[in-house]
Amino acid sequence: MRQDLIVILDLGSTQNTVIAREIREHGVYSEIYPHDITAQEIQALENVKGIILNGGENRIVDGQAVEIREELYDLGYPMISVDYPQSKCGKRFDKLPSGDELKTFLFEECKAQANWNMKNFIEDQVELIRRQVGDRKVLLALSGGVDSSVVAALLIKAIGKQLVCVHVNHGLMRKNESESVVKVFRDELHANLIYVDAVERFLGKLENVSDPEKKRKIIGAEFIRVFEEEAGKLEGIDFLGQGTIYPDIIESGTKTAKMVKSHHNVGGLPEDLKFELVEPLKQLFKDEVRACGVELGLPHDMVYRQPFPGPGLGVRCLGAITRDRLEAVRESDAILREEFAKEGLDRTVWQYFTVVPDFKSVGMKNNARVFEYMVIIRAVNTIDAMTASVEKLDWAVLERVTNRILAEVENVNRVCYDMSPKPPATIEFE
Ligand code: XMP
Repeated sequence: MRQDLIVILDLGSTQNTVIAREIREHGVYSEIYPHDITAQEIQALENVKGIILNGGENRIVDGQAVEIREELYDLGYPMISVDYPQSKCGKRFDKLPSGDELKTFLFEECKAQANWNMKNFIEDQVELIRRQVGDRKVLLALSGGVDSSVVAALLIKAIGKQLVCVHVNHGLMRKNESESVVKVFRDELHANLIYVDAVERFLGKLENVSDPEKKRKIIGAEFIRVFEEEAGKLEGIDFLGQGTIYPDIIESGTKTAKMVKSHHNVGGLPEDLKFELVEPLKQLFKDEVRACGVELGLPHDMVYRQPFPGPGLGVRCLGAITRDRLEAVRESDAILREEFAKEGLDRTVWQYFTVVPDFKSVGMKNNARVFEYMVIIRAVNTIDAMTASVEKLDWAVLERVTNRILAEVENVNRVCYDMSPKPPATIEFE
């Protein structure tokens, strides 16, 4: 690592990531560590320039105040503390330091250099990946989501054809999504890409299954099976690439914070796969992952995609999945995305999609009675997906999307807009 490092010690703060990101925004790399890290462990880190003792509301755990090891005060690094009254270090802040106070600490006291940027990060990672992998091979499940795409691009840069990507099309992808994975990775980046058409297999397993949890479980389990089968056909693979990012590590719980949430993904692979992991993004926040993707030359659409659930359109084709309704979800979603992009809403609205319930309603087409499906539009904003509010969509946009869906999507005679915030609704319907 060529980059200077500021170590943030978690002493029960809920603001660890806030301060970590702020430091990185000043161009200095930062990482969060548990409060009970030893002096030896800190000395083993490269280029440490300073330490922040970050206290806060979770400072008392099981009736006991958490404290750092005394030996850390003797290391001689510049140190400040935030909301940590027991601290013996010189400069103490009651709350997060202001931008200027932080800059004084970083650049005057720690003498850190602002050398954290994506170019350096990529250079470092390419070198580290080559060192880890040598002339061996890495396998990667490439869903086409932001994280797996950026990992793939980074690994291709580092080890080229020693990376084997497997893309499983489970039939629940959005319109043109699998095609674009093949185009970008096989045709443009010349990746070693195995494309698995598992559409019939997944839809077969899902036939007549209406319980949302059962659907999710089937999709997850089937994905693992398909991936394992493909892996079994390959020889000489020692590593598994994964798009783990920093929030995945932090949100799975620090010593003082409870677990925030656990979302399991289609990419979640079983632990008994005997591979060593390659996780080059594990220190990056989501916006940094995107910046890394842009720096690596990935298309804007791929890097700035809205979140998409692992089980894909499967949880938006409500109840037991049928092909006609799945097509209606896919086509209406494509129309919504196209119209949002025209208005620039794709850059401002956090998540937007369509769902199709499994019942019909009466309508009129060409002067005749029809009995057809409805499309529900959902568009929400949120910071952390734990709560969400409904986007106040412009009437004209809603009308245009509605008219296009009614004219272009088969088997649909009605369009509704979901006005429910989370809670009590969730963002997805299943
Ligand atoms: P809910 O529906 O719980 O969704 O309000 C919150 C956010 O999580 C996404 N989501 C998932 N993401 N795997 C994922 O990677 C999943 O199984 C999954 N289920 C929901 C959802 O799209 C929303 O952004």
